[in-house]
Amino acid sequence: MTYASDSTPELVERAYAAARQIGFPLTADDPGHGRGSACLPWVGRFLAMLAAGCHQGRIAELGTGAGIGAAWMSGAMPADCTLITTEIDPIRAAAAKELLAADPRVAVLAGDAVELISACGPFDLIFADSGVRDGETFGALVGLLRPGGRIVMDDVTPAALVPAHSPLRARDVKREMFADDARLAWTEVVLPDLENSLLVGTRR
Ligand SMILES: C[S@@+](CC[C@H](N)C(=O)[O-])C[C@H]1O[C@@H](n2cnc3c(N)ncnc32)[C@H](O)[C@@H]1O
Repeated sequence: MTYASDSTPELVERAYAAARQIGFPLTADDPGHGRGSACLPWVGRFLAMLAAGCHQGRIAELGTGAGIGAAWMSGAMPADCTLITTEIDPIRAAAAKELLAADPRVAVLAGDAVELISACGPFDLIFADSGVRDGETFGALVGLLRPGGRIVMDDVTPAALVPAHSPLRARDVKREMFADDARLAWTEVVLPDLENSLLVGTRR
């Protein structure tokens, strides 16, 4: 089944083109994945759905990449919402800045994500996509959410698909960070490919 709303927004298509131009991996299978890859389309749609509810809101993205997630969110967020997206790689930051330059609601900042966004909260939505893997930093991000604000992390393997011998069976840092923060009501969302999931939490 295909619906009209399944189409990819033009700005997202341009973000893919920018990614190809600078060699930013589009999928986790691409060479260079160790340096991050683009969010999956289902993650983009999920972020867009949340961004659409951020009236008079503020959104932060940690790890812009080539601007694909930012394109999904900025295209869906209300006119009175702003987005700060942060990227440590100067070439990626420059490409995303060019892509999003026409939208005055969007700021692309080059540098360390946590440092850059710490003074800019509170946020209605945080897409934590720069590789945060420690509870202290994660806790600081949750502290930047306003009550009702959401934090999202992707690149999670659905619990049912984690192989029996995988160390993730014993300890999964991403799930642990969400589970250990009592300020969050959170869940895992399995994406339509049934092979990937994301974690989303709402600040109480
Ligand atoms: C998974 S990719 C981001 C994908 C992007 N969010 C999207 O939707 O397509 C992770 C990005 O985080 C960036 N990154 C890694 N550490 C960072 C840091 N400390 N501050 C900002 N960006 C960082 C990497 O350079 C990489 O581009």
